Parts: sequence; structure tokens; C-alpha cells
Amino acid sequence: MEELLTTVFTTAKPIPSQASNSLPKDLFSAINELKKELKAVILAHYYQDPDIQDIADYIGDSLGLSQQAATTDKEVIVFAGVHFMAETAKILNPDKLVLLPDLEAGCSLADSCPPEEFAQFKTQYPDAIVVSYINCTADIKAMSDVICTSSNAVKIVNQLPKDRPIIFGPDRNLGRYVAQQTGRDLILWQGSCIVHETFSERRIVQLKIEHPSAEIIAHPECEEPVLRHANYIGSTTALLKYSQQSPQDSFIVATEPGIIHQMQKEAPNKTFIPAPAMNNCACNECPYMRLNTLEKLYLAMKHKQPEIIMDESTRKAALKPIQRMLEMSK
Ligand code: 13P
Ligand code: SF4
Repeated sequence: MEELLTTVFTTAKPIPSQASNSLPKDLFSAINELKKELKAVILAHYYQDPDIQDIADYIGDSLGLSQQAATTDKEVIVFAGVHFMAETAKILNPDKLVLLPDLEAGCSLADSCPPEEFAQFKTQYPDAIVVSYINCTADIKAMSDVICTSSNAVKIVNQLPKDRPIIFGPDRNLGRYVAQQTGRDLILWQGSCIVHETFSERRIVQLKIEHPSAEIIAHPECEEPVLRHANYIGSTTALLKYSQQSPQDSFIVATEPGIIHQMQKEAPNKTFIPAPAMNNCACNECPYMRLNTLEKLYLAMKHKQPEIIMDESTRKAALKPIQRMLEMSK
């Protein structure tokens, strides 16, 4: 077990000088030029700023992004998302340069599962199959049997042997939802996402009273009292598809509001209302995802850093459960 806990090294080279950080007037053209020069692909998550979404080659949920990372023939992957996503791309592509515009773009859910504590937790259930949500570090992936995302978690748990206990981590809200959907008794790690736990049931109900025909659509990382009101629950891609296909013309969206940019683009005549947080704050925006900016994306491509660098033994151990997920998602 100990070798599985080897620290994952993610390094940054020295910060470039102020002069080399000067920005061109037209960032979009400059990024497109660099993309050709580097033979790069830009992968972006739906929670990124709209301008990043607009310049990306592919926008998707965690599963779609992993599938793209697994199959791209480009030499450089520029990952506009958070650290665990770029790290997954690197695990799948050890020989490619994987850039993350801001290395501080972490994830509260991944942080809520420290490897040493999770290893200790696992020892209490020696027969259990470990299913880990992709929102975790490479060290946790390396201790897992199979990875899942919000879009395939039910499908994956349904394929596991019925006579074995299952540990599910790190998100207790997704875990509880998957347990309900599959009828399996999951042993849950008690982690959570600061963004999805911020939605206020009371304020969502109030919004529904103000917009009675609006459908409530929610990500499974939300807490049970919010999910109970949802007309539809799914991953970001699933929520986007549902909002296009539903005959309703307005939606209360209980996930990070970055996705509303795509929803609105795909269905310009529909109305999308972001679900409010408990206080009147902007805490429904993921503070980690929003660390990436178009400027940082440009600079990362220009200087070919910060790049994701990993310890090889951890990478190899983390690769197996990711490959199993990709196989089981077909
Ligand atoms: P999706 O895989 O549904 O895009 O979720 C990613 C995420 O971080 C949700 O908080
Ligand atoms: Fe992590 Fe939550 Fe941000 Fe998703 S929204 S990246 S789970 S902190």
C-alpha cells in the first residue's frame, strides 16, 4: 500500500518575467496561432468562463473530457478545468505535455479525501470493491478498483458483483444518489463539494413558486433536500441535453452556473435561472474552476507551463481503474 501513497509531484518552472507576460490585443487569434504551432488541443469543462468555452476544441463533462484525453492525437493537451481533470489526462498520456492554466485550480471534493485517511478507512473493509469518483487525487485513484463520473456511476455500480461490499468515495451526495438508484448498500466516504452544498432548498422552492412552469434540474453532487425537488438529475452533459430536449421553456439550474453559457447557446429561446446559494453570495461559482482565465490560458501555451508532472508508479497504479471505467462505460 505504501508505494501507492507516493506523493504526486506537480511542479511549476520559474515564473516568466513581466515582459514575457505581456498580452496580445487579440487573445483569441493569438491562442489559435499557438494551438497550431504546438499541435495542441484545448479541452474545457462547462464550469469555465464563457470565453474559455468559446475557444475550446471540446467542452464536456468529466467522462467526455477523459474520453477525449484518451483518444486525442494532438501533442499537447491544454486543460481548462481543475487539477484532477488535467491529472487524469496526464495519467492517460504520460508522453504528452499537459498544461493547466492555473495550478491552484484544485477541488474541495478531492481535498476532502486525504490519501492516508482513505487508506486507513479501506482497511476496515478488506473485501470491499473501491469505486472512486473521478474528483479525487491520483493517490486515491491508485487505491481504487474502478473510477466513475457523475454520468456513469450508476452504470458502473450496476456492473459490480452483488456479493461484495462497495466503498464509494469521496462524494457522499453522489454516493447516496447512486445507492438509491442501484439499490446497493454503499459504504460512503463523507466528502462533499463546497459549490453543490451551497444551494438553498428554501430559495429554490421560492424560485419555483415565482416560476411555476420552470423545471428544476440538478447535479447529483447536490444535497438530498435539493435533489428531492429536482425534475431531472444528471451530469453536466446530461443536464445540458435534457434542457434542450425537454418541451419546457424555463429551468432552475442547480449546478455551477458556467454551464448556462452552453445551455443558452444551444437553446437561445429558453430561460435558465441559476439556483441561488444560501446567502446572497456568488458561492455557486466554483472558485477553483474560475481561477483559469483566457489570459492564463494564453500564457500557459506561450511558456508551455505550468505542466502536470507525475510520479510514474502512482501514474501506473491510477491508470488501471481509469481504463476499467472507460471499458465499463462503453
Ligand atoms: P461533471 O462530470 O458532471 O461535469 O461534474 C464535474 C464536477 O466537478 C461537478 O462538480
Ligand atoms: Fe470540485 Fe465542486 Fe468545483 Fe466540481 S464544482 S471542481 S466538485 S469544488
